[in-house]
Amino acid sequence: MTDVAAKDSLTVTDNRTGQQYDIAITDNTIAAKDLGQIRLTDEEPGLATYDPGFVNTASCRSAVTFIDGDKGILEYRGYPIEQLAEKSNFLEVAYLLIHGALPSKEEYDAWVHEITYHTFVHENVKNFMHGFRYDAHPMGMLMASVGALSTFYPDARNISDADNRHMQIVRMIAKMPTLGAWSFRHAQGKPYIYPDNDLGYTANFLSMLFKMSEQKFEADPRLVKALDVLFILHADHEQNCSTNAVRSVGSSQVDPYSAVSAGVGALFGPLHGGANEAVLRMLKRIGSKENIPAFIDGVKDGNERLMGFGHRVYKNYDPRAKIIKKSAEDVFEVTGTNPLLDIALELEKIALEDEYFVKRKLYPNVDFYSGLIYEAFQFPPEMFTVLFAIGRTPGWLAQWAELVQDKDQKIARPKQIYTGDRQLTFTAASERWG
Ligand code: CMC
Repeated sequence: MTDVAAKDSLTVTDNRTGQQYDIAITDNTIAAKDLGQIRLTDEEPGLATYDPGFVNTASCRSAVTFIDGDKGILEYRGYPIEQLAEKSNFLEVAYLLIHGALPSKEEYDAWVHEITYHTFVHENVKNFMHGFRYDAHPMGMLMASVGALSTFYPDARNISDADNRHMQIVRMIAKMPTLGAWSFRHAQGKPYIYPDNDLGYTANFLSMLFKMSEQKFEADPRLVKALDVLFILHADHEQNCSTNAVRSVGSSQVDPYSAVSAGVGALFGPLHGGANEAVLRMLKRIGSKENIPAFIDGVKDGNERLMGFGHRVYKNYDPRAKIIKKSAEDVFEVTGTNPLLDIALELEKIALEDEYFVKRKLYPNVDFYSGLIYEAFQFPPEMFTVLFAIGRTPGWLAQWAELVQDKDQKIARPKQIYTGDRQLTFTAASERWG
């Protein structure tokens, strides 16, 4: 230990030995490896931290997304989500996330052109998707088909080449709606619809979902806008479970299709991408406004959860929920009101005034209203997470590209605290079983 500790440092005393250590503080963090010098003897392993779920551990430096959960702030590359949702569109936001800055007119046009002309997938991908069972979950189909793309683009393994990375990023953002829409059509037993490259990104997705025998499918522009906004709101959310999965798998230097397919798998889980479906089920169960007080009492007694409320990071209104609430109104203008909206609005009003929720800082999150919108589009609940995945793809890829260029990064390999047996003596099966 130095005599006078640096101001930006932490001085810790190991009470087992009485030794003191100065550990540098950078960006309000200490480097976990610095704890390794704290050890009982030279032979013993150094001190480590135990943090299941990375609740208080930074796994990377990132310049993609900023969140201040206490203040309810979300920014992509420094731009507030509210401004992007109001004034931008999904492909421009995707460009921003991937490139780190807004495009010039020429850059934007070239980007949209590139994405538009990579929407088709190899015909064998279609045959591969046809092979799924009639009732395959669309998220399972999406995860498998994104992973399968790695076999169609073996060049994607050359991740150290910037042009090559760009090519795969374009391909994946472009093809995700095609794979997502075909997963939906498969479950419905309907023919897969090829992309219509005269249409914009989100309008083309709706065409691939809903087109039947008409020459051209033209969705109501208000619905196109609402879905585009939903994609923007889901485009990135810093180090969440699926992004961490993409980074963790990507850290082995595998191709980006394999890494993103791991992200789709993580998103599939009900604790991550599936809460909007749970909100819908909850609202249906409540059934009418009169039943809300009894439901709230049940939540306060700990018998159930108010789904779509609360967040690990946001201790304030989730900024995405505010925007989605407005989008819901726009969508219902086209589709007619969903009676569940009245229940949701009343539920929110009561909860925001109730001491139980106020004290615990429980506010609506992104999932509180999104399920209502998806239902108005006539998506079955299994499709909700596919929509989330399409929106999240640019974020996964921006984080992946950042990872592979980050000199600090190593292959992900957490420590463990071993709790099992040691040095048992093995007896062959023939002896154990007599
Ligand atoms: N309803 C009722 N009580 C709740 C709720 C809720 N939705 N959420 C948290 N609480 C209570 C919880 O019981 C605890 O109370 P106490 O201190 O008396 O034990 C306190 O609030 C803190 O909760 P926690 O479970 O420690 O908080 P967490 O940060 O571990 O959990 C959460 C965050 C999102 C899992 C949780 O709020 C929850 O289960 N919400 C409902 C599910 C949901 O809407 N999930 C979507 C999250 S947003 C999607 C995304 O960004 O991926």
